[in-house]
Amino acid sequence: MSIYYHPASIGDLLIPGNLFLAPVAGYSDRAFRSVCIKGGASLCYTEMVSSEALYRGSGKTQQLLLRAENEKLFAVQLFGGDPHAMQEAAGIVIRDHKPSLIDINAGCPVPKIIKSGAGSALTKDPEHLYTITRAVVQAAGETPVTVKIRSGWDAQNLTWKEAALAAYEAGAKAVTIHARTRAQGYEGKADWTILAELVKVLKNKIPVFGSGDVFSPEDAKSMFEQTDCCAVMFARGAMGNPFIFRQTIELLTTGTYKEIDPAERIRAGMEELEILIEDTGELSACREMRKRFCGYSKGLLGGPSLRSAIVKAEKASDYKGIFSPYLL
Ligand SMILES: Cc1cc2nc3c(=O)[nH]c(=O)nc-3n(C[C@H](O)[C@H](O)[C@H](O)COP(=O)(O)O)c2cc1C
Repeated sequence: MSIYYHPASIGDLLIPGNLFLAPVAGYSDRAFRSVCIKGGASLCYTEMVSSEALYRGSGKTQQLLLRAENEKLFAVQLFGGDPHAMQEAAGIVIRDHKPSLIDINAGCPVPKIIKSGAGSALTKDPEHLYTITRAVVQAAGETPVTVKIRSGWDAQNLTWKEAALAAYEAGAKAVTIHARTRAQGYEGKADWTILAELVKVLKNKIPVFGSGDVFSPEDAKSMFEQTDCCAVMFARGAMGNPFIFRQTIELLTTGTYKEIDPAERIRAGMEELEILIEDTGELSACREMRKRFCGYSKGLLGGPSLRSAIVKAEKASDYKGIFSPYLL
């Protein structure tokens, strides 16, 4: 442990460390969460799960709620703009999946999601965020509820402070901020000064977690140093690199870290593929893993020709053939 790497608390929930995998749609399934936990992540979030779909009993949604075998702690993120559906969905998740916490998505910038009053529409409308959070807190009982916001709608409408306070007053036990506006999407720089301000606003109330532009162990260290946030979330920085957690722990505790050799990276990708095959079948998993293996193979010798083979892979044996020279 160090001044920056240490256990974190969310209400009564104790988490052994403070380096988290962010909710990332299309990535944070149990296969990826499993390799991230092996890679040193203290807590992993599911991707956002539709409260409406859960409430109406869509089978496909249950797939998003599978728990990895090594996942002692389980953080489920829900999205929705209707307090009743959010409350019902939270009840279903707690009854059927016994999560360690429920997180509310108040940051998604996708137009279809915003139109339903969900995602970053909630950061824009703190009163509605209060109502939604309250409804989920009531359904959650002892299970802590957290909220993930953006800095605001656009540069003229930075509502992060009102949104975070609304979440707190409604009973949220932690707030994560991705310090970009909805208008920024995933472009431009995340504004860590806003994260640092939020840490001060919620000091002695609830912990604040930081998200945005954490692409290396050094970035994570800088985020802790510059903002005093309680935990750091990795999103794009963990794609194809689940070892970023372990490297960050090493950096924060010893001042340096080891590079990961290519074979270890590819082995993690193959493990991820194996779990994804169990969950979705071979063809679908192999197609899904194409983009992910492009991440795992970044920086490997022969990168471009490797990637042109990866984007055609349809069977586990195709990947084995592609990567066999690296696994010797
Ligand atoms: C492809 C993609 C999907 C995402 N899906 C979600 C999501 O389901 N829920 C959520 O709260 N944030 C989601 N995010 C936002 C991330 O959790 C994170 O806040 C954001 O990417 C900023 O971190 P980074 O700059 O380190 O990537 C997503 C981001 C990306 C790039």
